[in-house]
Amino acid sequence: MSDATAIPLVPPVSATTAVPFFSGAASVRRDWPRLEARIREVAASGRFTSGPVTAELEAAIAARTGARHAVAVANGTDALVILLRAAGIGPGDEVIVPAYTFFATASAVLHVGAQPVLVDVLPGSYAMDPRRAEEAITERTRAIMPVHLFSQMADMEVLKDLADRHGLILLEDSAEGIDMWAGGVHAGLWGSGGVLSFFPTKTLGSLGDAGMLLTNDDEIAAAARRLRLHGQGTDGAYATDGAYVYQELGYNSRCDELHAAFLLHRLERLSEETERRAELAARYDRLLAPLAGTVDTPWMAPAKTPSNQVYYVYLIECDRRDELAAHLEANGVGTEAYYPRPLTDQPLLAPLPGSRHPVPVASAAATRALGLPMYPDLTDEQADRVAALILAFYGAAS
Ligand SMILES: Cc1ncc(COP(=O)(O)O)c(C=O)c1O
Repeated sequence: MSDATAIPLVPPVSATTAVPFFSGAASVRRDWPRLEARIREVAASGRFTSGPVTAELEAAIAARTGARHAVAVANGTDALVILLRAAGIGPGDEVIVPAYTFFATASAVLHVGAQPVLVDVLPGSYAMDPRRAEEAITERTRAIMPVHLFSQMADMEVLKDLADRHGLILLEDSAEGIDMWAGGVHAGLWGSGGVLSFFPTKTLGSLGDAGMLLTNDDEIAAAARRLRLHGQGTDGAYATDGAYVYQELGYNSRCDELHAAFLLHRLERLSEETERRAELAARYDRLLAPLAGTVDTPWMAPAKTPSNQVYYVYLIECDRRDELAAHLEANGVGTEAYYPRPLTDQPLLAPLPGSRHPVPVASAAATRALGLPMYPDLTDEQADRVAALILAFYGAAS
């Protein structure tokens, strides 16, 4: 191992060699004339939220995913809360979720008054371990909510079988799962419903926050349409039937027309951008191969068609993770430790009974996992520089 402070092989950072962890600026600049036209249309229409552009986005996502219903909301976290509520989850219920995921998976369960029960994940896919989930089932368990994390789907055949055998509701935190499929079914549609996040860094990212709920269930969709508008209405339609009539406590979770317009535009690029992500992943895989054992590149389940793999995040597991991140940062490369602690170690969640299960796989990943820059605007040269810095850090020649 070489001294991280004395890396000789890579030129010093400058404005031209800096590699941010995420940037979408180049694609916005490239597509600006068309984007500007859409933004002007929205501005001139006088309808700024929950209007025809949002409906167009819902129809486009429904068509792309095969969902019977796509319900646009303000962000992915709201989509989870509303999905849980619409599926009838509430106080007294336990919902089994993986311990290795973004906080929102568990916080959404708390927001509806239920208890998240945190279980360990499988090495490699970081998805809910079905055996650990089965062990965690109690008489209060109402649902399991696996997460499709980083670049691939959880093993939904096994998890659906588990839910069916125990009479549990199957929900999916598919916030990262756009364009991920398993067995011909899009992420989020294996059970009662799932969500999408359009947070800017996501595979399909907006100019700000937006999200969506996906379901094939008519009642869940109708409930979600009411809940996103304060619980208004009798049929879930926007301000038509039942306007200003509230029969349940909902949320203010509208989707802005500007976001919908931006996302419709981004949707046209999504397939080519996903291919670009795969190219970059293959490049990182190849360049980092000499470090196998010290730096593990992502383990991926065998590829299928339609694709079960989308590199939203390119996650390595490595020795001396924090030192490597500091070294990359010092050389102008942004990284993200996804996730630096399992949810069982979160101050809010640790005291809860749902944090009682041991999570050795999640705990180990939390000390070793590091997301490298991965976005369609990333150039080959930038990816090469990231890899060269990593090789140099561990003392291998690039
Ligand atoms: C797994 C997961 N769940 C939930 C969310 C929440 O989505 P949002 O940030 O749009 O609220 C995210 C994204 O941030 C996520 O990655």
